[in-house]
Amino acid sequence: MIIKRLDLKKQWHIEEKKLLPIVKNVLSSGIYVGGKHILSLESKLAKYCGTKYAVCTNSGTDALTIALHVLGIGRDDEVITQSNSFIASASCIAHLGAKPIFADVDENRRLDPNEIEKKITRKTKAIIPVHLCGDIGHMSLIKDIAKKNKLYVIEDAAQSIGSKLNNMKSGSFGDIGCFSAHPLKNLNAAGDSGFIVTNNKFYYDKIKFFNKSWFKRQGQF
Ligand SMILES: Cc1ncc(COP(=O)(O)O)c(C=O)c1O
Repeated sequence: MIIKRLDLKKQWHIEEKKLLPIVKNVLSSGIYVGGKHILSLESKLAKYCGTKYAVCTNSGTDALTIALHVLGIGRDDEVITQSNSFIASASCIAHLGAKPIFADVDENRRLDPNEIEKKITRKTKAIIPVHLCGDIGHMSLIKDIAKKNKLYVIEDAAQSIGSKLNNMKSGSFGDIGCFSAHPLKNLNAAGDSGFIVTNNKFYYDKIKFFNKSWFKRQGQF
């Protein structure tokens, strides 16, 4: 099977007729941050991912950073993740003053639950499995480990919108799921973009509180 490389210029030509009126509508509304289109997108994203809530962010990196911050992760905390990923999976942990701890992956490049257990210390606060190339990790084992050790699970679902495991969509397994809508991702924006999903109302409210775009959006209503 031939898998064609992504051609963004070609994609624009295919979608131009449909997208131009929407772009015109947004630009003529004067509401350039948030607005009804973003609210509608958030509710569609939540529905698509099988979660109660979704919040659009400036990027997948922002999504991960906000998720960690909302869960109270910061200085001196440790977060277990995998090193075979884009730099943001680990850099967002360091950005908040916490320490990324790398656990090894299995032969399918998924975070190995046995290796996670070896890395848990009293400083560990969360686990970030990365669903590389749409491949969802060992979520039920990871959730068991998290429950046993009172840890949060944040899914780095930047590369996995629409992936399913046991009839559940990526991003809906852990406490918070983080997606990228970078132009090279399957759901792509014309610029940096991302979103967060969760089923937890308390986290959702906090995510909105810390998400700069949401504040600005309120100012425009
Ligand atoms: C696994 C993974 N995590 C996080 C990110 C960060 O997303 P963004 O580029 O939207 O900040 C990416 C982007 O490539 C990614 O592939």
